[in-house]
Formats: sequence, C-alpha cells, structure tokens
Amino acid sequence: MKSPTIRSVHARRVWDSRGRPTVEAEVTLDDGAVGSAIVPAGASRGSREAIELRDAGARFGGFDVLQAVANVNGEIASALAGGRADDQAAIDARLIALDGTPNKSRLGANATLSVSMAVAHALAASRQLPLYESLGGPAATLLPMPQIQIFGGGAHAGRRVDIQDFLIVCPGAGSFREALEWTAEVYRSAGELMAARGSRAGVADEGGWWPDFTANEQALEALVAAIEKAGFVPGEQVAIVLDVAASEFGRNGRYRLGLESRELDSDGMIELLLRWMDRYPIVSIEDPLAEDDPEGFARFTRAAGRRIQVIGDDFLVSHAPRVREAATLGAANAVLLKPNQRGTLTETLQAWEAAQAVGYAGIVSARSGESEDTTIVHLAIGWGTGQLKVGSFARSERMAKWNEALRIEERLGARARFAGARVFGRSPA
Ligand code: PGA
Ligand code: ZN
Repeated sequence: MKSPTIRSVHARRVWDSRGRPTVEAEVTLDDGAVGSAIVPAGASRGSREAIELRDAGARFGGFDVLQAVANVNGEIASALAGGRADDQAAIDARLIALDGTPNKSRLGANATLSVSMAVAHALAASRQLPLYESLGGPAATLLPMPQIQIFGGGAHAGRRVDIQDFLIVCPGAGSFREALEWTAEVYRSAGELMAARGSRAGVADEGGWWPDFTANEQALEALVAAIEKAGFVPGEQVAIVLDVAASEFGRNGRYRLGLESRELDSDGMIELLLRWMDRYPIVSIEDPLAEDDPEGFARFTRAAGRRIQVIGDDFLVSHAPRVREAATLGAANAVLLKPNQRGTLTETLQAWEAAQAVGYAGIVSARSGESEDTTIVHLAIGWGTGQLKVGSFARSERMAKWNEALRIEERLGARARFAGARVFGRSPA
C-alpha cells in the first residue's frame, strides 16, 4: 500500500484550562485523512525543558503564541509538505533539524509538538485505527494505573502548601474502570472532610481540593482519612503518591518549606520523606529533591528505591540522555514522560525506551495547563507504559483523559489488561 503523504499543515491559536493561549495544529494527508492536536503548558517547569515559545509584550500577560502559530503555518508547513506521514521519526527529525537549536528555542517546542502529535493523529485516521493502536499495534492492550490528585499544592495552589501533588493510586483495583470508581469515592470523601473542617470548597489548577492545611503532613493525614472514609484499606486497596516538585522550593541543597517556616538541607529533606514513608502508605514519590541536587536524588533512591517508585520529572525532563546519566548515578527509578518537555513524540518515546533499557518505570503525564486533547492517553496505552498521571478527578480537561481511557478499555473488551499493583514492583515495606 502506498504511504500517505502530508498535503497541508495548519495551526491556530486556541485556549487552555488556565485561559492562556496555546497552539493547535491540524495536518491533512493526501488521502483526505485529518489529524489535530493541542499542546499543554506547565507551571512548575524543569529548567532543562525544551522552550515553549511565547510572544513578548503585554498581550495576555506575555503568554500569546502567535509567533509559534506563524512558525507552523510558515516554515514548518513548507518543510513537511509532501513528507511521508507513516515515518514519525523522519518527520520529527525534520522538525528538529529545521529548528536547529538544542532546545527548540527558535521555532518553539509548542510549535513542533503540535505538528508532531497532529501527524500521528492524521496517520491513525488514514489507517482507520484509534491512535493507541496506530502507535502500538494489536499488542497495545495495557490500560495504565491512573495517578489521581486529591489535594493540589505548590505552584498550582498559590503555594498554600509546599508539596505540589497529593495523589492516590488503586493497587487493589481489578480494572481501569474500577480504579476510577474508587478514586471518585476517595475524591468525594476528601471534599466532605475538607467541608467538615470548614474549608471553602475550591480546587487547585489540576482540580485537586484546595489545600487548606497548616502543615504539609496534615494533607497526608487527611488523605488517609479520606481513603478510610470511602471504605478502602489504605496501602492495600488505595495507596498514596506524592509529587514533591522540590525544584520549586529547593536550590543549592537548601529546601525552604514556606508553610512551616523552616529550611532543610538535602539530608533533612530525605529524612522527612523517609519518616512520611514509615507513617503513611506511600508507594511513589516524584521529584523528592531538586533538579540541581542529583547526589541528593541518588541518596534518596538508595534509601527508598527498593520500597517505592522514585520518579524524576523536572530532574529528567523526558530526556533520554538524562535518564541514562541518572541510571549511572543510581538516581530515581522511574521517569515522568511529558511530550512538551521535549517538543516531539519521537524524543519522548526515546526517553521511555532509555528508561526500559535501564530498568526504570515510565509514567505518561499531563501538564497543569491542559485542554480537551487526549493524545497522552493514547501514548500511555500505545507505548504500554502502564501508568498515567493527569491531575485530579474534576475539570473537563482532566476528565476528558480519564473518559477516553474508559472508552478504550471498553473497546478492547476481553483483550484489555490492567497494569494493576504490579507497576509498583517494589513492594511497600
Ligand atoms: P506542571 O506540573 O505541568 O505545572 O509542570 C506537573 C508536574 O510537576 O508533574
Ligand atoms: Zn512533577
């Protein structure tokens, strides 16, 4: 069969869940198939992420993306016209070469990623397959364990608490659908508990309950209470995951916990987290130390990495060379996979391949600024990563992803497998 080729590429400015401009690209193939995708945006970003191009000036607080849109409609559209849509690696290599910088700072990672994802969608449409199957073939049947935020914090909640995400996973659930059902109950009981404490019922950027606490540890206590109130056994059926996002409050080996008016060094931070691991059913911690503290990261991994999953997000920025480097240090044992940290699907996939080669787990992740786009759900299933982090269980930019995964689970029917507890191969102590 003849390979479909790219007839046209078009971008427009659309709006994300924070009301900020972002880029949507639409790719049309010579056979008439169309694919489109919208890029997300982070707020607590790693310093080594690919560059998101934002227009200078006062319009929309400096967040406009008209230059990135123009880059797609101009240079990128001309360069890709006529290219084969079934060679994602070649398309992405073309985007990387065209940009010509190490971090997409000329064309913008938002420009390149919108096109990279839209090409994948157009090819899937041309093949008349859902994206996950176009990416992973008939073997793509593994539904991910969802990591779902119950309390938001950090940069997503006015720094009301220092820790950014208090999340749950459901190692006791038998299917993706059941994991969502359990999460819905825990999310609801956490809201009731907060109301009973007299907290106002607001949510943070990713939909988690507003963190009305006077110490970070109170959120952990509230989380265990919410799991129990919902009728689940903490640690067995429902367990806790943290994204400390320590780069947001840690620099040069000093960690400033603003809520508690105290400062810790790396070892103090490690001791604090180990103490929490002893007291609460925590199975995974993301960015426990700052991106500029690889030695601290390695020390924490030596102390905790056999008991729990240690994820590098800002620390590894979905970058294959950094994953390999971390492995030589023994820092982290899992990598968060955010396509816009790199700017192409191929480079994000390379980080996942590097992770598998060094025995690290992979978690496909949304950003705090999202849209109705559900591409990441298809990446998690198509690449078989086994884990997906999207934010909370509220707000349609989050629910669009969970609902898409439900549709896929139903479509797969008896062929659907669920990642279940085995993704946390390191059993809790
Ligand atoms: P961000 O946060 O999208 O604001 O960077 C998400 C995360 O840290 O995992
Ligand atoms: Zn993170």
